[in-house]
Amino acid sequence: MTVRDARQDEFADLAAVTLAAYRDLLGPAMDAGYAAELADVDGRAGLVDLLVSVDEAGTVEGGVVYIPGPGPMAWFHGEDEAGLRMLAVDPGAQGRGVGTALVVACLARAAGAGKRRLLLHTTASMTAARRLYERAGFRRDVEHDHLLAGGVALLAYVADVGQ
Ligand SMILES: CC(C)(COP(=O)(O)OP(=O)(O)OC[C@H]1O[C@@H](n2cnc3c(N)ncnc32)[C@H](O)[C@@H]1OP(=O)(O)O)[C@@H](O)C(=O)NCCC(=O)NCCS
Repeated sequence: MTVRDARQDEFADLAAVTLAAYRDLLGPAMDAGYAAELADVDGRAGLVDLLVSVDEAGTVEGGVVYIPGPGPMAWFHGEDEAGLRMLAVDPGAQGRGVGTALVVACLARAAGAGKRRLLLHTTASMTAARRLYERAGFRRDVEHDHLLAGGVALLAYVADVGQ
């Protein structure tokens, strides 16, 4: 598998994979607004880094949004911080290390940019993601937990970059 920046001709596949992964976890009743946000790869292109993992045949198996610093899609303000969002692996490709490779690529990108911390939020129901993050060196950052208007609790995680 290869992790790299998504090409424009892969945006539709990245949107499909992202939606499939979240729908598989959250069920068909997933909020329509959230589904539209997840699928809007075109809308975030150029604002943040879009990473994909592709197999030998070039098929997009997963993706993640890497937020290089304060600005579009960032919820943090530190110049020494970067973030990740919307980590997703196609349900048929899960359990083979694709998600881990995407997170490791975000950590490497943050280290290459001289960042000190990589931040993310997840939820209690995202158990596979939480195991993955903890294996990759993230720890809970309860001070930055956040309750969404709809009542969903976002759990904050942080990793020290380059350690
Ligand atoms: C979270 C998610 C991205 C993980 O993707 P993934 O590609 O399955 O992740 P990995 O394969 O790296 O790790 C998952 C499991 O596979 C195992 N695994 C990794 N590489 C493996 C390999 N080569 N052989 C066998 N098992 C392997 C890991 O040990 C891990 O096991 P565990 O979860 O039981 O501890 C995926 O489940 C997903 O898209 N979920 C829905 C969306 C979501 O929750 N996103 C997170 C938003 S914060």
